[in-house]
Amino acid sequence: MKRQQQIEVAEMERLQKVIAHAGFASRRKAEQLIIDGQVKVNGKVVKELGIKVSSTDKVEVNGIPVEREEPIYFLFYKPRGVISSVKDDKGRKVVTDFLPDIKQRVYPIGRLDYDTTGLLLLTNDGEFANLLMHPKNEIEKVYVAKIKGIPSREKVRGLERGVRLEDGKTAPAKAKVISIDKKKQTSIIELTIHEGRNRQVRRMFEAIGHPVMKLKREKYGFLTLQGLSVGDMRELTPHEVKQLRSISTATEK
Ligand code: URA
Repeated sequence: MKRQQQIEVAEMERLQKVIAHAGFASRRKAEQLIIDGQVKVNGKVVKELGIKVSSTDKVEVNGIPVEREEPIYFLFYKPRGVISSVKDDKGRKVVTDFLPDIKQRVYPIGRLDYDTTGLLLLTNDGEFANLLMHPKNEIEKVYVAKIKGIPSREKVRGLERGVRLEDGKTAPAKAKVISIDKKKQTSIIELTIHEGRNRQVRRMFEAIGHPVMKLKREKYGFLTLQGLSVGDMRELTPHEVKQLRSISTATEK
């Protein structure tokens, strides 16, 4: 095959993959969108699943153009006082302010609270983001919390067994007391969870009567903050991206 032809072949991608990557739907749902006639390529409805498109083809889902960008993945050590968003109406700092100068439009996978520090992933690959955020995925997240007071052993066990929150009981977790400051009446607890509900860790500690004073996410699956300082952003390696896909047990069913 001539070199020019090889390049063209490499750029061709399945239509459902292009739609999924742009974050419109999972691959399976993208297939359904195609079958249902909701997808146009260069202005014409396409209902065949096998079709491949190149970067110059114009793809639309229900009239909305599908943006095609080279996928990119970052690991960020989020500082305190930064919003897990791409823009803020009040002019506060957002996580994307820390990105290097890139063409792609990247957004965070899930969120950390304004005051939470630690590991946050960002990408422009919607399919990857959906996979990692799927409620069924079992990716472990390790948090270290400084809390008010000194919890009893029973309360720490309670965190592990699951606490009742307004959106239901939390799944089994791991909790480890790292240190206790009797004088200041504070404790440092490591909490490992695999759910990703809004403000979950803070709400779990509130539920046992020990509010969080400081919170940091130290690990996301096998990823750590090793080698990074607060505010640093690094690209994930292709191997790390592959590993994250494979440890995510989420199904698209
Ligand atoms: N749980 C929280 O309460 N806050 C975070 O930022 C992350 C998890």
